[in-house]
Amino acid sequence: MNDNPSLNRPAPQTLDLLLSRRSGSAKTMSGPGPDGEELRTILAAGARVPDHGKLAPWRFIVFEGEGRERMGEVLVKALAASEPNASPARVEQERTRFLRAPLIVAVISSARELIPIPVWEQELSAGAVCQNMLLAAHAMGYVGQWVSEWCAYDPFVKNAIGLKAGERVAGYLYFGQPAEPLEERPRPSLEALVTRF
Ligand SMILES: Cc1cc2nc3c(=O)[nH]c(=O)nc-3n(C[C@H](O)[C@H](O)[C@H](O)COP(=O)(O)O)c2cc1C
Repeated sequence: MNDNPSLNRPAPQTLDLLLSRRSGSAKTMSGPGPDGEELRTILAAGARVPDHGKLAPWRFIVFEGEGRERMGEVLVKALAASEPNASPARVEQERTRFLRAPLIVAVISSARELIPIPVWEQELSAGAVCQNMLLAAHAMGYVGQWVSEWCAYDPFVKNAIGLKAGERVAGYLYFGQPAEPLEERPRPSLEALVTRF
């Protein structure tokens, strides 16, 4: 028994949500995005995932407002280092990459090595954080997309946004309104995925 009224109670709407979730493209997202209170709820849902060892092996970086422009400048500098002859259009693409949505949350995996909990399990927990955040935003009527793109892996960018040694970007989660109707895509057939032992 537990005294939390939201547990052990059928929640068909939650099932609808799980079975209907789809991404809205980060490339075609508009505002308004989640407000401060909604963002807090999204972050809290993210921090609510299963986490072997209670390590909380993840943290979150929020990009909104001018922070998105500052990230654009970081991306432009990173591009200049790796592609000094990049075209003006390419530079502009990076300057505006984080302006594609009103809110972006980077989920950072901070897995620790040399402890009894395998790094793999800590990284899986970071993936669950991303999915919980997407679902929370979806439940509030926003669309979301989990993207990595080159900036999740670029050493200059990782340093500029404050990642420490061993930390990795699990994903940049874009949140906003869909600028276009969402398209369904074929989903894997359960028959191909499931065996019984
Ligand atoms: C770890 C991870 C990284 C991803 N990175 C990208 C990406 O960089 N660009 C992209 O278009 N989709 C990326 N995706 C896929 C999208 O999040 C999304 O799943 C895909 O567009 C299909 O849409 P759906 O979520 O409706 O199935 C990534 C997914 C995961 C799990």
